[in-house]
Amino acid sequence: MEVFRIRGGRKLEGAVTASGSKNAALPLFAASLLSSEESILENVPDLSDIRFMAEILLEMGAEVEKTGPTTWKINPSQIVPCAPYELVRKMRASVCLLGPLVGRLGKAEIPMPGGCVIGNRPIDLHIRAMQRMGAEVELKAGVVQVNAENLRGNSIFMGGRHGSTVTGTANAIMAAVLAPGKTTIDSAACEPEITDLCAMLRNMGANIEGIGSHMIEIEGVESLRGCRHRVIPDRIEAATYALAAAITGGEVCVRGGRLDHLGAFVNVMNACGVRIDAQSENEISVKTNEDGLRSLEAITLPYPGFPTDLQAQTCALACKAKGLSILTERVYPSRFMHVPELLRMGAEISLEGASSIIRGGTPLTGAPVMASDLRASAALILAGLAAEGETWVQRIYHLDRGYDAFEKKLQGLGAEVERLPESEMPSAFGAQLS
Ligand code: EPU
Repeated sequence: MEVFRIRGGRKLEGAVTASGSKNAALPLFAASLLSSEESILENVPDLSDIRFMAEILLEMGAEVEKTGPTTWKINPSQIVPCAPYELVRKMRASVCLLGPLVGRLGKAEIPMPGGCVIGNRPIDLHIRAMQRMGAEVELKAGVVQVNAENLRGNSIFMGGRHGSTVTGTANAIMAAVLAPGKTTIDSAACEPEITDLCAMLRNMGANIEGIGSHMIEIEGVESLRGCRHRVIPDRIEAATYALAAAITGGEVCVRGGRLDHLGAFVNVMNACGVRIDAQSENEISVKTNEDGLRSLEAITLPYPGFPTDLQAQTCALACKAKGLSILTERVYPSRFMHVPELLRMGAEISLEGASSIIRGGTPLTGAPVMASDLRASAALILAGLAAEGETWVQRIYHLDRGYDAFEKKLQGLGAEVERLPESEMPSAFGAQLS
């Protein structure tokens, strides 16, 4: 296994480019199954989650080929409606194969995704949406079996206890585009990744109205054609580089950073003393005010609210901001696995229900820490950039699921970050961690 060694204290400066969005690209791979023709996806990030998805489609009978550094060709003319357990269990996002299989083949067998370290992640809303469209759904031996021979449009309400569901909305849309009649999806998720999915589906010939809103209307069509589609830039990755600049007091330009996708995040950053300006439609500049960081407050919510996928990284920033900051989770109330690791670096954080209360401004010190999930990994690396001394982050395979060439991009901004074999860790650390 590999680890990251970070030597903190360098101000980050320069320009960095955010890759294509992971959470847009994964459902787009699934959407390509809705046609029997070939589709081409461009600006796909180089991530282990994408490689898993490609493998799953291959196992299902599609021809899948990486034809360039960020381009994939998918020909799904012959596919079976069953997703393989061994691969699906490694990646929750494979649940978004459900909609396309139901839509195109009227049948789907998908292993029920398991639990996940960021919290309980049920799929009841996905299943309810399929049932509303006339599908029969059964759970047999851990596999969700869907029979949807008589799929038809209907009204669907996508909201749940924690608001709308992103991949659930994607599934409902992908099933509805080929379901005869009209489907209305109320309380639809309106994340930019859903808008990107709708853009690709329209390109394939789908009839969708209300894109980007909470009320989507779809008139089913008989078939869809293949298409060429460019994945939107990753807003979470872009914001993570903005946070890396802010936590080191640096000044960075993020290409692929779109202000229109980052409204709630930019508001919180501005309030805590970080200036974020649009340089163009697709580029932001980030600079910390001379008088340093002020404490911050954010509540995670579905889009356009503050993204849960930035909560952990923002917690790292709050550790450097003088005063009391509060971060409240409304999407995944127990997504705080980064907190005990930040405590090891000298952070002062207490957890009260679904909120973390951070007393910031005290120095962070490098330490060996353990990444528990994708965004927690990024948070620990950001903390390491701002800490005195060396931070060693273990289990960075979580990071590789969602950040394309993270250490290389940070190095380009002047950070001292290295990916090393675990055997390079000082043995005293190894003993502590084993
Ligand atoms: N929920 C239900 N029932 C459902 C589905 C969801 O109760 O049937 C609940 C969840 O437990 C959660 C909330 O609704 O409390 C929102 O979950 P959602 O379904 O929106 O999450 P998701 O679609 O599984 C996507 C991203 C996540 C991101 C969330 C929230 C992908 C592949 N994943 O997950 O990304 O955190 O939306 O924005 O798009 C990440 O990139 O690190 C990541 C975890």
